[in-house]
Amino acid sequence: MDIRIKEILKTPATGQEIRVKGWVRSKRDSKAVCFLAINDGSCMSNIQVIIDKESANNGVLNSINRLNTGASCNILGKLVESQGQGQSVEVQALEVEVLGEAPEDYPLQKKRHSFEFLREIAHLRPRTNTFAAVARVRNSMSFAIHKYFQENGFLYVNTPIITESDAEGAGEMFQVTTVPLDKLNGGVDYSRDFFGKKASLTVSGQLCGETYATALGNIYTFGPTFRAENSNTTKHLAEFWMIEPEMAFCDINMNIDIAEDFLKYILKYVLENCQEDMEFFDQHIEKGVIDKLKGVINTEFTRITYTDGIKILEESKKDFQFPVKWGIDLQTEHEKYLTEHFGGPVAVVDYPKDIKAFYMKLNADGKTVRGVDILVPRLGEIIGGSQREDDYDILVQKIKEVGLKPEEYSWYLDTRKYGSVPHSGFGLGFARLIMYVTGMENIRDVIPFPRTTKNLRF
Ligand code: 4AD
Ligand code: MG
Repeated sequence: MDIRIKEILKTPATGQEIRVKGWVRSKRDSKAVCFLAINDGSCMSNIQVIIDKESANNGVLNSINRLNTGASCNILGKLVESQGQGQSVEVQALEVEVLGEAPEDYPLQKKRHSFEFLREIAHLRPRTNTFAAVARVRNSMSFAIHKYFQENGFLYVNTPIITESDAEGAGEMFQVTTVPLDKLNGGVDYSRDFFGKKASLTVSGQLCGETYATALGNIYTFGPTFRAENSNTTKHLAEFWMIEPEMAFCDINMNIDIAEDFLKYILKYVLENCQEDMEFFDQHIEKGVIDKLKGVINTEFTRITYTDGIKILEESKKDFQFPVKWGIDLQTEHEKYLTEHFGGPVAVVDYPKDIKAFYMKLNADGKTVRGVDILVPRLGEIIGGSQREDDYDILVQKIKEVGLKPEEYSWYLDTRKYGSVPHSGFGLGFARLIMYVTGMENIRDVIPFPRTTKNLRF
């Protein structure tokens, strides 16, 4: 494998011949010399290539005209200490091969483009600084997530994507069928469909995850999930990746301890391993984001009950768009207020049972459940979790109450029928975590190819 720019810049072997393969970010051409800024995606920095026109052979000189912004090249040259400012080393070109030209209509000419425009060319946007940095940070965080769980004895489980169950009981499922909609003639006979029954894309791997946690102890899933919720906001996707650990013999407080420890671990990992990209976000996307994350790592998360949260919101006397009273689902504006009030992440527990999923454990008061949302400034909810209802009879009752059929969840109920244990888990929206870490403001800009209402391309 060829050495990549990141390695060249990390330990520059000046005086040696090296090969650089990448794309031209910019070209400055004068009578005597031509400067090329080459990027290969391995890091934010470009490497500067200098072509001395007086000494260059005809082949090299011909290449210069063909190497416009966006073109790809293979360059052999000598790594030397830079004469100019802005870089410590540069490459004096000896051989220049043009691999692929980029005509003048290349959309990413060297100027700032709006994120809206770049969304239209999502297939080219990884060639920009911002989207390359997001991709590298996303990659590092994926690795850190697996690393955390593997170091802590969690087993990685792959739960199905096509499912018959509504894991959240919220009815926001995409249907999976092989029957063309225009052939339905008013009625659906699922027995003739592919699975012989109604099938959907999963909204969460949790229920299947619970069956493994109640056999193997601590497990986690990390995979795509789908929500057909019609919310056209900056933090909702129709397809997003979720991390869902599930722990046997674990109550709600241990659950929150793990969530907090896990989040801090990921933040630390990113700050240590994505320094250059994080500095970019700090300078260009969210000023001070590095200090913000350091602050989060070094302070304990605030923990409050929903009931206390409501009191704080009421006492704020703020004119919220959604009026506050006990029993409401917290809206983003309320969540943001609470995080600003406490100046950092807040874990809110014990929500009214009517606004939360059927599987959450009922508290002794009969009104609230052991659900937890972890809220962060600017975004609101980033994690949703709970201690699970482990009482068979109460769970059957809850399933009926939300209009689901207990017989369709008999397999799930078996985990409570046979050797039921207190267990808990949570779900972290991967895209929301990336927004939080990078400061990016629109969830469409932290996933390579976003899927949202009325928007499907690629
Ligand atoms: O709060 P949610 O709906 O919880 C669950 O799905 C549980 N089964 C998790 C569990 O206990 N195992 O979703 C969890 C997280 C949210 O906090 C949010 O970060 C993210 O998933 N999320 C979304 N992210 C992007 N787009 C959407 N439409 C999202 N819906 C939820
Ligand atoms: Mg939630």
